[in-house]
Amino acid sequence: MDLLNAMQTMNACRYFKPDAVADDLLAKILNAARWAATGSNKQPLSFIVVRDAAKRRALHDLYQPIWDTVMQKYASGEFKSGFTPKFLGHVDHFARHLDTVPVHIVVCVQWKDLTALDANLDRTVLTPGSSIYPAVQNLMLAARAEGLGTTLTTLLALAEPQIKTLLEIPADTATAAVIMLGWPEKPFPQSLKRKPLAETAFLDRYGAPLPGASAYV
Ligand SMILES: Cc1cc2nc3c(=O)[nH]c(=O)nc-3n(C[C@H](O)[C@H](O)[C@H](O)COP(=O)(O)O)c2cc1C
Repeated sequence: MDLLNAMQTMNACRYFKPDAVADDLLAKILNAARWAATGSNKQPLSFIVVRDAAKRRALHDLYQPIWDTVMQKYASGEFKSGFTPKFLGHVDHFARHLDTVPVHIVVCVQWKDLTALDANLDRTVLTPGSSIYPAVQNLMLAARAEGLGTTLTTLLALAEPQIKTLLEIPADTATAAVIMLGWPEKPFPQSLKRKPLAETAFLDRYGAPLPGASAYV
């Protein structure tokens, strides 16, 4: 499939069929992650494909209370999001059925190989993720090209110690994300809801219009 079309239609899939994903297809998709660039080509990433039903159940049991807390904060107004109740219903369904998603992929990273160049700035540290998420996006786009749905999740960062015990992850290795993957129950969207290009791409200085950007809304 056309790469731009894959990018434009790779939604967060929250409804999955129970159908299995073949081993050779999974290996092909994971191979796409391998080609991503990492700082100094250190390649600090590895991926644990979790198919075992008991382990997926355990990941669900870790995820559910974290999601419930987030959901309560949206409901009480403590977290402001603008999410509609319908959208939150989809996310809640996803949480409650997480264990039925056939494949969970835990993204592992040898964190000492990451560089936090911006650690001394007075804001959230951004640069370490730059050696992680290009590979995650490669993997998810490769899955999309095969007709598989994915959702990137990071909520389980709050349960990293328990996940490390569950999956026997070594001490020098962190968990960066868990990708949920399977055959989608619903069709892919024609396009995703994203800001118009003119709001996010500039020429020569922040805020200055980029010629041609208005064609992409
Ligand atoms: C960094 C990141 C973390 C995310 N974490 C979660 C998560 O923990 N749980 C979840 O249901 N969705 C998660 N998502 C999915 C986003 O909510 C979703 O991509 C966003 O709402 C836009 O939806 P769309 O991609 O279908 O257009 C995450 C996405 C990203 C990029």
